This record gives sequence, structure tokens and C-alpha cells, in this order.
Amino acid sequence: MRQPQTTATRVAEPSPRISGQVANRLRTGDRTGHEWYRFVLSFPPHLVRDCLEKFAIVAGQRVLDPFCGTGTTLVECKKAGLASVGLEANPMAHFASTVKTTWDKQGGELLTSARRIADAASRELEAQGYGDDSYGPLFDGAKSCAGRAKAPLQSLDDQQTSLLLGSSISPLPLHKTLVLLGEINRSAPPRLASYCHLALARALVESVGNLHFGPEVGVGAPKADVGVVREWFNRLADIARDLDELRPRRDISCRVLRADARNVAHELPPESIDAVITSPPYPNEKDYTRTTRLESVILGFIKNKAELREFKRTLVRSNTRNVYRDDNDHGWVELHPEIQRLAARIEQRRIELNKTSGFERMYARVTRLYFGGMARHLAGLRSVLRPGARLAYVVGDQASYLRVLIKTGEILARIAESLGYRVTGIDLFRTRLATATRAQLREEVLLLQWPGAGKSLGQARERRSQILRLTRNAPQTSECCFSLPAQVQPQTTFSVCR
Ligand SMILES: C[S@@+](CC[C@H](N)C(=O)[O-])C[C@H]1O[C@@H](n2cnc3c(N)ncnc32)[C@H](O)[C@@H]1O
Repeated sequence: MRQPQTTATRVAEPSPRISGQVANRLRTGDRTGHEWYRFVLSFPPHLVRDCLEKFAIVAGQRVLDPFCGTGTTLVECKKAGLASVGLEANPMAHFASTVKTTWDKQGGELLTSARRIADAASRELEAQGYGDDSYGPLFDGAKSCAGRAKAPLQSLDDQQTSLLLGSSISPLPLHKTLVLLGEINRSAPPRLASYCHLALARALVESVGNLHFGPEVGVGAPKADVGVVREWFNRLADIARDLDELRPRRDISCRVLRADARNVAHELPPESIDAVITSPPYPNEKDYTRTTRLESVILGFIKNKAELREFKRTLVRSNTRNVYRDDNDHGWVELHPEIQRLAARIEQRRIELNKTSGFERMYARVTRLYFGGMARHLAGLRSVLRPGARLAYVVGDQASYLRVLIKTGEILARIAESLGYRVTGIDLFRTRLATATRAQLREEVLLLQWPGAGKSLGQARERRSQILRLTRNAPQTSECCFSLPAQVQPQTTFSVCR
């Protein structure tokens, strides 16, 4: 692939300082507020701070994260005294971001309730013949239960169980979790219950369940027993401690909407946003619904397959597990030759390698749908941006589809440019080792500016005629790019993957 003809600059190869995990790590001084529940490999708070500084964002302005996940941008903005708004389609991540940006409760009050709940749950488990390692000085349930008859274990219903990754939680830890959850639901004051639920979500992912992240979610060795009450209580104590530190910033505005970022123009008022700092999905087969499945099911965010499908449909298509017959985002990049060539290359490679599974057949289609969905998002976003707004999209190059390199940042830069944005840079954030190819893949910060509707229309027109000239003259070789009008029609239908 040729270098893009954008105004962007790609920087030189990374120094060891920013290779691998280092750039992404949560710094010790940054833990407050962020650790309550966090996606593995979320971008780090210091990256958000760097962008805020670069964009010179000041109090009175508003920052948007349209793919806010577990809320790194939002928490960091609120800590800096800056108003923000987040969109997130995943109900568990939306819940986490909402709780992580609600700082109006007292830590002491939360701890008092948590102790009461922990005591009651420990007593109940003890009465049932199950000890739960001491979470504090009061109980040593494991010892006091020795030799006692055991009550039947509680479990999830069949629909819920069928949603879980097999063996992602062992029977006894699940029972203890459900007993604790029952106690939270019975006796946590309503104003504090969400912190209790979030602490349980974190405990489930980090230590109660059998999950491991690397970075994909997998199931590791089963844990026969875990001190669930203790694990939960310790995480709640972290939240309580942080709340006292964060309380002075409690009135800084932050809204988190459960919404599809491709419909952003319907969600936010016109010209209300001064900066965007975000990390959207990449076309890499990562399924965020699996990453959050255990806690989503146990906490009741997803109750059955229909609900799961409904929420998957609101996600940008970035993996072959959520592609649907009537998906039509590809229409947004139909006339974008670079994306068409990329998809054709992936399909060609599949045929050469004789890969015939349903998933492999979807690789080319999901690539088109991904970039189309991002184009739709960027197109809608224009109306909510103030003229001069600055944007940072953290995205990674990928080689997940039969090792065909997808330069995500460069392609998004071209799409953005065709929609009237100015591309002001593509900075290297870090590199990652691709497991399949052992090559270092770039993770970049795509920097954009929205010049305002008047200015960008002129630019877009100019760009369109340039593109038309290019496509007429050399359709196969030019690296041109242009957007479709908003009223683009969906193409034919496709077979459904799942
Ligand atoms: C890379 S993660 C963001 C991580 C985030 N920076 C954090 O701090 O946790 C991408 C997020 O985009 C969400 N997402 C995917 N498609 C979406 C859509 N159409 N609208 C809103 N959110 C979406 C996913 O659920 C996921 O949480």
C-alpha cells in the first residue's frame, strides 16, 4: 500500500520506551477512579491527559467519547474539572462508566453498608455449610463450617447459563456470588447499590471467575473455591477510598448515554462538543460482548439470546460474530477504492488458502462494514462539533484477517478527510506484537480537526472533483478516497453469520 496523500505525518519507528505494554499501563498515580472496573488494554489515562493538553481544552468546553467503554476519557476529564459526555452501546460498559463518574457519595457511608452486607452474606453462607474466607476480623467461615451439612448450590437459569463462556465460573464461587448478590439487592441502600454491583463485576472478572485475558478473553484453570465476599469487599473498599478523594469534583458535569455512536447526531445537540478523545473498536475479531459476558449475565444486563443479539446490532461491526443479513454500513464506503481493494485482497487470500468456514467467508464483508460504520459515525458527528473542534482516535493496525495488513489509522484518515475533516497527524502511540505474524503492529492516534460546516463543504467539493478526476483516469492505481452522500442506498442482502 502506498503512503497516503493526507496532511498527516507518520512518525519514525518506535523507541523501546513505547513498545508493547509499557505505553498502555495504568500508572500508579492514575489509579484513583479508573480501577473500579476497567477493560484490559483500555487506553491509559495519561494518553487522555496528553490529548487534553495538546488540544488546550479548558473549563467551559465539553469533551465527547463516543465509544467510551469503561470510561477512561470521562473519568480523566472529570478529574481535570472538564465537562464530558460518553456514548456506549454495551450495557455493562455503559453501567461501569456511569458509576465511575458518580462521585457524590461518602466513602464512609459506603463502607458501613458494605460491612453490613458482607456480614449478612457471610452468615448466610455459613448457615448453608459454606465458609467464605474471612473478609475481615469477624468471620472465618471456612473453619466454622467444617463438618456441617451443605445446602444445594444456587445457579443461573438455563438461558443465562447458555450465554456464558463454558466453565467461566465454577459452581461454588457462582453460588457464593449469587448469595452475595441477593444480599446486595435486598439490603444495599438504593443510592449505593450501583457501587456494590460494580465492585462485584470487577471481582468476578479479576478473581472469582475462571477467566483470563491475553488480550482476548479465555477460560483458564477452574477455581474450586474463592473467598467471594472478601474479594468483593476489598474492591468496594477501593471505591470508598477513591470517593473521598474524588468528591470535591462531584459537580463537574458528565453524562453517559447508552447509545449507538453511528447515530450520534440524534443523541447530542448541534455544535455542543469541543473535542473528541476516543478509542473505537478495530477490525480485529475482538468481541466486546464476550469480554463482559460473565458479569453482564450475573448482574442481569443480558438475560437471553434475543437481548444479546439486540445489543450486538448496536455495535460497529468489527468481528464476524456480529454480522447480520440486513447490515448496510458498507454503503458508506462503497465508492472508496482503497477499502474495496483491501476487502478484495482479503477475499482473494481466503480463496488461495482454501479457507471455507462461515467466519472466514465474512472477513471481507466485515472489513467493509467496519469502515462503513466508522464513516457513518464520522459523518453524523460533524453536526455536533463546534467549528475548530479537535479529535483524537486511538486505533491499531491489524492483521487478523488471513494476515492481510489493515492500516486502520490511515484508512480512517482518508475517510475523515473525504467528509471534510482536516487530518492534522497520525502519531504513533505504541506497537503491539501480532501473534499470528510476529510482526510489530502500530497503534496510532489519528488527530483530526473539524473546520466547521461552511469551510468543510468547500473542501469536500474540491476533494470530490479531484477524486472523480482520479477515478476516471486511473481507477485501479490511484489511492483516492471520497465519501458517499448521506442518502446512499444499501446494497444487496447477504447471508447471516450468526
Ligand atoms: C476500545 S473500547 C473503548 C475502551 C475505552 N477507551 C475505555 O476506557 O474502556 C471500544 C468500545 O466501543 C463500544 N462500541 C462498539 N460499537 C459501538 C457503537 N456503535 N456505539 C457505541 N459504542 C460502541 C464497545 O462496546 C467498546 O466498549
